[in-house]
Amino acid sequence: MTTSSTSDTIAVLGLGPMGSAIARAIADSGGHVRAWNRTPRTFETVPAAGTIEIVDSPALAVESAELVLICVRDHAASREVVEALAGAVGDAVVVNASTGTPIETVESAERAAQLGLRYVTAAVMVPTSMIGTEHSFVLYAGRDEDIGVTDRLQAALGGVSDVVGNDHAVPPALDLAMLDIYFAGMYAFLHSAALVGAHGIDATRYLPYAEGIVETLRGTLPGLTTAIEGRSYDGGEARLDMCLAFLDHIVTTSTDVGLDPGLARLVRDASSRAMTRWPADTDWDVVAEEMLSSISRRSESAV
Ligand SMILES: NC(=O)c1ccc[n+]([C@@H]2O[C@H](COP(=O)([O-])OP(=O)(O)OC[C@H]3O[C@@H](n4cnc5c(N)ncnc54)[C@H](OP(=O)(O)O)[C@@H]3O)[C@@H](O)[C@H]2O)c1
Repeated sequence: MTTSSTSDTIAVLGLGPMGSAIARAIADSGGHVRAWNRTPRTFETVPAAGTIEIVDSPALAVESAELVLICVRDHAASREVVEALAGAVGDAVVVNASTGTPIETVESAERAAQLGLRYVTAAVMVPTSMIGTEHSFVLYAGRDEDIGVTDRLQAALGGVSDVVGNDHAVPPALDLAMLDIYFAGMYAFLHSAALVGAHGIDATRYLPYAEGIVETLRGTLPGLTTAIEGRSYDGGEARLDMCLAFLDHIVTTSTDVGLDPGLARLVRDASSRAMTRWPADTDWDVVAEEMLSSISRRSESAV
């Protein structure tokens, strides 16, 4: 197969939902995309501007491209793609937007360096529908001279591009940390909706109350940040013993209606353990100490 090459070609490797959304956003912004997917794919509608050309191999896709974006399931998959394109990619910058753990992304960056590639780690923080809109949000890590080549990609994806330095662990650490909050929050909402549902309060009636407490949570985060950074727990606003009583009520109320207490039991148990180590009038935030201490112990044993 022959490929049409322009100096501003962006190669997109991986045309799952996210890779396709990115390819379309680049084309819609007037760019030329040369794309590859492991399983042959087509686009049902042509882009509003630009072009998307589909080719048969990663090596063909990256030919003469100035920028290469990889967006596949995980880092096991992206490493196969990187090995397949390494001999053909030349001086182009490879942006890997496949989700991985911090350890995986660092290992992938190290392998890319061994292969002599210019390499950037990206983490896409939004669903496909927000790609190419003002709501898009993507984190990037890499060397300044490589990040500089991603300008057209950043512009096509729209919204916020957050360049976080040259540590390839940072985008996935922030990505997974935000998802940690998001999934726990969604699970807590479903759990609490079931709890009120068991008392005849339907989810629609409950929603404004849930939204209100999420706002309260938002206002609580700066204080928690100050507490864990200073490791001081003497603000006097939410005592450990008082919070433990709330948590006991949630666990009991869940159990009363036949609902597994879930996250509430986990938080209650962490609070009970804190009560064995700290005075009852310590701020509830001291629950963080167990997590901070276990990370310190692991770092010390790794040295
Ligand atoms: N979708 C979202 O809303 C979203 C949001 C943020 C981040 N992400 C991240 O974006 C990445 C892509 O996600 P996605 O939504 O497009 O769907 P996905 O199901 O995570 O990935 C599908 C893509 O991965 C390819 N793939 C899987 N294994 C492969 C392998 N061994 N070699 C080559 N290609 C392989 C698939 O190719 P085939 O078609 O041949 O199977 C397909 O192109 C993921 O890392 C995901 O976590 C997605």
